[in-house]
Amino acid sequence: MSEFVWGVATSSYQIEGAANEGGRGQSIWDTFCKVPGKVANFDNGDIACDHYHRFKEDLDLMKWMGVKAYRFSVAWPRVIPDGVGRVNEMGLDFYDRLIDSLLEREIAPWLTMYHWDLPEALQIRGGWNNREVVEWFGEYAEVLTSRFGDRVKNWMTLNEPLCSAWLGHLYGDMAPGIKDLQTALNVSHHLLMSHGLACQVIRSNVSEANVGIVINVTPAVPATDSQEDSNAAQLADGFDNRWFLDPVFGRTYPTDVIDTLGASPEIHSGDMKLIAQDLDFLGVNFYFRQTVAADQNSKPLPIRSVNRENVKRTAMNWEVHPQAFEEILLRISKEYSPKAIYITENGSAWNDEVINGEIIDDERIDYLARHLDAMRSAREQGAPILGYFAWSFLDNFEWAYGYEKRFGLIYVDYKTQTRTPKKSAFFYRQLLLNGTA
Ligand code: FCB
Repeated sequence: MSEFVWGVATSSYQIEGAANEGGRGQSIWDTFCKVPGKVANFDNGDIACDHYHRFKEDLDLMKWMGVKAYRFSVAWPRVIPDGVGRVNEMGLDFYDRLIDSLLEREIAPWLTMYHWDLPEALQIRGGWNNREVVEWFGEYAEVLTSRFGDRVKNWMTLNEPLCSAWLGHLYGDMAPGIKDLQTALNVSHHLLMSHGLACQVIRSNVSEANVGIVINVTPAVPATDSQEDSNAAQLADGFDNRWFLDPVFGRTYPTDVIDTLGASPEIHSGDMKLIAQDLDFLGVNFYFRQTVAADQNSKPLPIRSVNRENVKRTAMNWEVHPQAFEEILLRISKEYSPKAIYITENGSAWNDEVINGEIIDDERIDYLARHLDAMRSAREQGAPILGYFAWSFLDNFEWAYGYEKRFGLIYVDYKTQTRTPKKSAFFYRQLLLNGTA
């Protein structure tokens, strides 16, 4: 078996900046950030970590850290500014330089095709709600695979379709900020179909490709031992986890969720087959578990999240619960039998402080160490876990939370763009260097 993969992860809009440079088109996040009240402090990704200009310095830090793999995403509007049609050479050149610089440092590129920055030009045409998006995404996949497929072998189609669908189109907390159930359901379906088509494109254009999708899983536990709350937790699990995992692994959308919603995506014949591609791996993002209670007044499902008392929480107010991580890894392995699992994101935000030039983020280290233990334990019990990517390499633009929430192993001073490794970066580095990780 090949060696366990240790990496770090980021995404384009969260770190690149250079939003108006190099021929990049606008994305739905550029637009969303301009809507008052949507993003904390009216922050945006115009500059972010200025990684577009500083990527070499960043890759040197990565090399210092000892990681062997880097999961990044390509900004669709940087490569195809209008979403379809004209390809922007300057955009492709940027990723060429990034990929070549990674390979020079013996860090394997792990490329995510879509981490939420849809070209605004496509949103105007209905975005993910327009069934034609599947063809648009296929065209984009053609461009990426034919240009980078000689050097990039590890491909992820989508990052967390749940967030694009539910947060972007049902709750309106993320771009494009729509709040409509039927739209959200169709969006989820079109996302998964796009994933399916992109898998086929990768297989035909990239030799020896390692192909997967990244799904965020959030275990749901009932608030009390009542039957109602237990049903509520089941439904939350259906809507947040099974909705995306089931079709990818060849099943239908969960019927308990469809029945309760009284709504379903618009499905044409052949769609489910397209979604259910043979995958080399499942990318799992894990952050927290949720506690759920029945609530007949809530829509679109009669459930609500409950704030459990006396538990440790991160700066995101997310519960720290490594055991739930272990359990869901085992459950996924048993119920879906993926050929391989990579933890494509895991990490935590804390209120980091710079004191005498140092960031002593012991809470992040504790989170990391305990989740790594949980992962190892799942692995020892047979879960086919082949790699781990810490979220995130750098502090970055945390979507609706702007720059307020810091997830990085490396601290970023946004005024000066200075990078300072936090204590957790030294911890991760030591783990990797000792080979004890
Ligand atoms: C995940 C996203 C990632 C980052 C982390 C904290 O949902 O994939 O971009 O925001 O959460």
